[in-house]
Amino acid sequence: MARLDVVETFHGLFFPGHLHTKDSLQQALQFSFQDSDVLIVSYPKSGTTWLQEIVTLISSKGDPHLSQTVPNWARAPWLEQHYFAALMAASPCAARIITTHLPHHLLGPTLKDSKAKVIYVSRNPKDVVVSFYHFHKMANFLPEAGSFPEFLNRFLEGTLHYGSWFDHIKGWTSQMNNVLHITYEEMSMDIRGAIERLSAHLQSPLLEDELNNCVKHCSFSSMKGNKMANYTLVNREIMDHNKGSFMRKGTIGDWKNMFTKELDTHFKSVFESKMEDCTLEFVWDE
Ligand code: A3P
Repeated sequence: MARLDVVETFHGLFFPGHLHTKDSLQQALQFSFQDSDVLIVSYPKSGTTWLQEIVTLISSKGDPHLSQTVPNWARAPWLEQHYFAALMAASPCAARIITTHLPHHLLGPTLKDSKAKVIYVSRNPKDVVVSFYHFHKMANFLPEAGSFPEFLNRFLEGTLHYGSWFDHIKGWTSQMNNVLHITYEEMSMDIRGAIERLSAHLQSPLLEDELNNCVKHCSFSSMKGNKMANYTLVNREIMDHNKGSFMRKGTIGDWKNMFTKELDTHFKSVFESKMEDCTLEFVWDE
């Protein structure tokens, strides 16, 4: 069997090589978006799967049939993965729902004149790095996580797969045309309001009952129990659910269980210098 943790390098960034090839990454940058496309953009561990579920439910008017019968990666495929075209062609969704982790400096030019509806989901970076760390431990296609302090340094340096979190969020949020920026924390604290904001952006209004159904079926417990969203369908050689769950905790502030005082001080100094030119505010705590 081919090694799973093989790395693909593209424009100086690292990608999991069993999912990405130079060709598939290059093709992503040449993709022709249609105005009716919905594009979910995120840095890993920011709420991507949650957004895939919510967008599927909004486009199905709250009916959970699609989200409970088709895996998330087939109803909202990743643009940069090598089987994207095949999955997209087979997608049962009425509108094309596409997902990407690509940074804005690579994909922005492709989207420049497009009216595709883009949703950027972000999460406070301390929870992102903790979630990513645990994910590295169960995802055999990612490099060894190492110790948490080492992993945090790689996150702050931008040398983890998919590159720098700082470049990612600054790139996508400074280009707001057609981009709705939503946060994990906003969804966590007011899922109903978040779905209303998303359905308005997608120009897909929901009746009260439809909205109630969306809220119900995208809850953490519903998704944790939905094998079309919780990644338990993935081969154990790729994601080992004996080592941890993909739908792990789903909370705000889990970073407090991993950050020592020293790590927090180090994080803050890097964060302050890298985000100096950025006015975004973050919710760190419930
Ligand atoms: P944790 O590891 O902190 O639990 P992504 O889909 O971008 O990879 O993000 C995965 C993270 O989103 C995981 O975070 C996962 O538990 C969380 N998540 C997924 N669905 C969620 C939901 N419905 N409610 C809250 N968190 C959710």
